[in-house]
Formats: sequence, structure tokens, C-alpha cells
Amino acid sequence: MSISKKIFAYSVRGKSWWSHVEMGPPDAILGVTEAYKADKNPKKINLGVGAYRDDQGKPFVLPSVKQAEQRILGENLDKEYAGITGIPEFTKQSAKLALGADSEVIKSKRIFTTQSISGTGALRIGSEFLAKFHKGKPIYQPTPTWGNHVPVFKFAGVDVKNYRYYDKSTCGFDEAGALEDISKIPEGSVILLHACAHNPTGVDPTKEQWKKISEVVKKRGLFVFFDMAYQGFASGDVDRDAFAVRYFLKEGHDMVLAQSFAKNMGLYGERVGAFSVVCADEDEAARVASQVKILIRPLYSNPPIHGARIAARILSDADLHKQWLGDVKLMADRIITMREQLKSLLAKEGSSRNWEHITNQIGMFCFTGINPQQVEKLIKDYSVYLTKDGRISVAGISSNNVGYLAHALHQVTK
Ligand SMILES: Cc1ncc(COP(=O)(O)O)c(C=O)c1O
Repeated sequence: MSISKKIFAYSVRGKSWWSHVEMGPPDAILGVTEAYKADKNPKKINLGVGAYRDDQGKPFVLPSVKQAEQRILGENLDKEYAGITGIPEFTKQSAKLALGADSEVIKSKRIFTTQSISGTGALRIGSEFLAKFHKGKPIYQPTPTWGNHVPVFKFAGVDVKNYRYYDKSTCGFDEAGALEDISKIPEGSVILLHACAHNPTGVDPTKEQWKKISEVVKKRGLFVFFDMAYQGFASGDVDRDAFAVRYFLKEGHDMVLAQSFAKNMGLYGERVGAFSVVCADEDEAARVASQVKILIRPLYSNPPIHGARIAARILSDADLHKQWLGDVKLMADRIITMREQLKSLLAKEGSSRNWEHITNQIGMFCFTGINPQQVEKLIKDYSVYLTKDGRISVAGISSNNVGYLAHALHQVTK
């Protein structure tokens, strides 16, 4: 704005409109990237951001995505608006991917699914839905949880509370703590569960532990909100990673579900996701659908189409689907290999610390268990960038930097 225009803007009211607006804190994760970019050390590593990188440290466009996109471009499709709930083939396929092809819930048409602005948008629609139709009930989230979970629900007016999840002493799941806390949650409350590849800890309950969680949740009469942002990305197998969701359904829990295709299809910037509500019957699903549409319409009218077309094509075409399952496995396997290499190189460095959790944990992230002083030293002395809680994105490790990382990690923890 030119000086003369600025003076004019002030002069209308005599003072600025936004002088009371305070500077907010920078986003914790994006701040890490900024600091990384400014660092001149050629050995610097960015382990802050949760986006997959190939073994050369480059962003990866999945071959299945490239093929699907080419086919779609060849069809000269129009760019008309989608409906409020998005592309029907996409929502149908998303539900099928999460619940399984032979799902009773799908067969009996007691599920409603809408397209969403990736996983965050799905969570946000869910939070608005709960605020309106499950009024006054808090949502219990694991400690710790993905940083955005708290404001997503708070901003919609849902009270956020916590239950124990992570055990610092073992860098693993705090089974006793979680079950004890869940068993005290007031009836009718909502419980948020990460379906797989828990962010930020990388710690998932075992099948047996999921069964115990389901039992306590049922006993307490809690409503389940599943967040599934990493289906396939955890183990490399989309069905295995959907175990918890499908088990809970089999056990008779109704639920809402947020899905993201950012990680498992590498469609980060395309913003492809889905929000589902599992209902008692088809009639209830229709009523829920009508109300979710009323919530979405004033938010963004209807979702973007390109990414959803890609995802729908991959999920509905047998060859592309097969190719995609291979692509997902390739990403998951590379991450698992990096975990193994990091652990064994730490041992080679002479570290006597127990690093078993590096390979016990799963998915994109590893909660290293190092303290804030050690994190600071890693950043300052070794240009290895990570979040303050000691979380590293394993997707940012490659054959080229894993040795340096093991060395740096050993130096700051010995
Ligand atoms: C646990 C969890 N839920 C949801 C999301 C949503 O991501 P997006 O909005 O990019 O799909 C993320 C992304 O990091 C996540 O880690």
C-alpha cells in the first residue's frame, strides 16, 4: 500500500482498525522448516515436516498417481462444481477402503461419507457436527496427540480433554494408564483414536490392546472418533492398518471417521480426504447427510475435484489399484528400512542407550525420547532439525544422511 493510501485508511477512523491484534506464535512445525532453510551447513537435515521423501530426499509423486492423472487429463473432463459432498465415486471408494469391500455397514447403507479438504477438513467437519448434534460433550484426546487436534475441536466449541497414551519410560504405549483413564471418562463423551501410525509418537496399540480399548470404550458408553491419516503408510498394508476401525465396527461401535489421502497417495497439496458417519440405519444416514451438507455449504460450498478424481480412479481401476498398493508398500518399506539402519548405526557408534523403540514404533514419525536440551544441541551443533518434543520424521532420513544422523544423535545422548 502506498503511503498516501495508508494515511487515508487511518484518517477515516483516526486510528487503525487492527491495532489490538497481537502477533501470534509461529506454527511449531513450519518454524522448524524456516530455520532449516536459513541454515548454511551442507549436512543439514530436516526431520520436522511430515511429508514422504524418496531416498534422494526428494518429494515423491507416486507412479500410480501419475498414471491416473494422465488418464484423467486425456479425457478432457470439465471443471464444473462438484456437489456439496464431492465426487460420488470417490466417497464410495473411500468408505470401501476404510471399512473393507465386504463391510456390513456399507452393504446395509448405514454410512454417510462426504469428501473433505484432506484429513484436517474431515476432522473439522466432524468437530462442527459434534458441536451441533452432540452438544456439550467433551472429546478426550490421547496425550500427546497431533498438535492440530486441539484447535480443530476447540475452535468448533468442543471441550478438549485428555487420556494417557504414551509412556516416556518405555517410549511405548501406556496400556495401564490409557485403560485406567478411559475407564473414568464420563458416559456419552467422545474419544479420539488414531487408527494407525499415531502422530507424534509412532506408537500403536497391538491387536490385543485394541481389543481391551474397545471393551472399556463400550463399557463406558463412549462415542468413537477415528482419525485415519495414514492407512497403508504404517505397515505397507492398507487392510492391516485398518484393523482397529474394522474391529470396532465388528464390536458394534457406531463412529465417525476422518480419512486423509495426503500421505498414502502423496496427494498432500491436492487436499483429498473424507469424513464418514456410521449410523444405525439407512434412514438415519440420510438425515445425517442432509445436516452435514448444511454445515459444509457455508464453509466452502463444495470441495476441489482434481485430487479426488485421481484418488477415485486409483481406487476403482483394478490395475491402478494394484500399482498403488505397491507404491504404498514401497514408501512404508523405505521408512521401515531407515528405522532399522538408524538403530543399527547407533549401536555401531557405540551408543549404549536402548533404541529398540525406533523399530518398535511405526509410520512416519519416531518419538526419539531425547530431552529438549538434546534437541537443541542437535539443531545447534549438527543442523539436524526436529520438533522440540524429540519427534523426527523418519521419511526425511535417507541412505545419504542416516550415518550422519546416527553420529549426531549419539553425540548428544552419550
Ligand atoms: C494424525 C493426523 N491427522 C490428520 C492429519 C491431516 O493431514 P491433512 O490435512 O494434510 O490430510 C495429519 C497430518 O499430519 C495427522 O498427522
